[in-house]
Amino acid sequence: MKYSDIPGWFYPIDQAGFAWVLEFQNDTAPPGDLLELGAFQGKSAILMGQKLKPGERLTVCDLFEDVVTWDGANPVEKAFFGDKTPTRQAFEANYLTFHKALPVIVQGPTGDICRHVAPGSCRFVHIDASHVYANVREDTASARALLQDTGVVVFDDYRKPQCLGTAAAVWEAILNEGLQPVFATDAKLYATWGDPEPLRAAIIARARASDWCRTGDPVAIRDMQIVRLVRNGR
Ligand SMILES: C[S@@+](CC[C@H](N)C(=O)[O-])C[C@H]1O[C@@H](n2cnc3c(N)ncnc32)[C@H](O)[C@@H]1O
Repeated sequence: MKYSDIPGWFYPIDQAGFAWVLEFQNDTAPPGDLLELGAFQGKSAILMGQKLKPGERLTVCDLFEDVVTWDGANPVEKAFFGDKTPTRQAFEANYLTFHKALPVIVQGPTGDICRHVAPGSCRFVHIDASHVYANVREDTASARALLQDTGVVVFDDYRKPQCLGTAAAVWEAILNEGLQPVFATDAKLYATWGDPEPLRAAIIARARASDWCRTGDPVAIRDMQIVRLVRNGR
């Protein structure tokens, strides 16, 4: 199986975004674990696992097949999976196609993740599970508790019409709770509770050196800045 054959919604622009953030951290930040909330069939987790340094751990949390009966999801979310119901078996098979060993797997609601991951132990958290407002609020609070000071959180679907709850939760954290946006793609917003500038400069430099994507001019939001990372030709 080729990586591009794995079903999911993890597009090349975000494959680059994840790789560039994790490589920047590998060069400049202390070691730390990686966490994914919402793993589906493993497309983003596989890439995260490729950037682990010795001694670091990747944890993924997903309800897998239990998501269809879980009462915290809304009907839009359930309909979204259609014939692609997540299964733990598919995740494990896909992951083991690209890695020798599985990550730590927590099968259950992401609201329980703080029982499984130590506070301040993570350098990167991907929030891509439920897209319901209350759940994304809870996942954001967990990310804050679990991340190191320089850690990075990535939100999926922060601007999709079907995911207004995610949008509200993301901007609430930015406007009221000290979360600093760093850069955004069409699908994901990358942010930190630490200093956003060094990472933003690194992403702008990586985009400039590429022949297939670019960053737009910085957009000011209060005293914060954010840039868009986009493919050339769009
Ligand atoms: C959009 S998919 C994740 C996609 C994956 N990150 C990728 O890039 O391929 C969302 C996943 O979150 C899981 N999920 C939804 N709500 C959840 C919850 N409250 N707790 C744990 N997992 C949940 C679903 O089972 C599904 O596998």
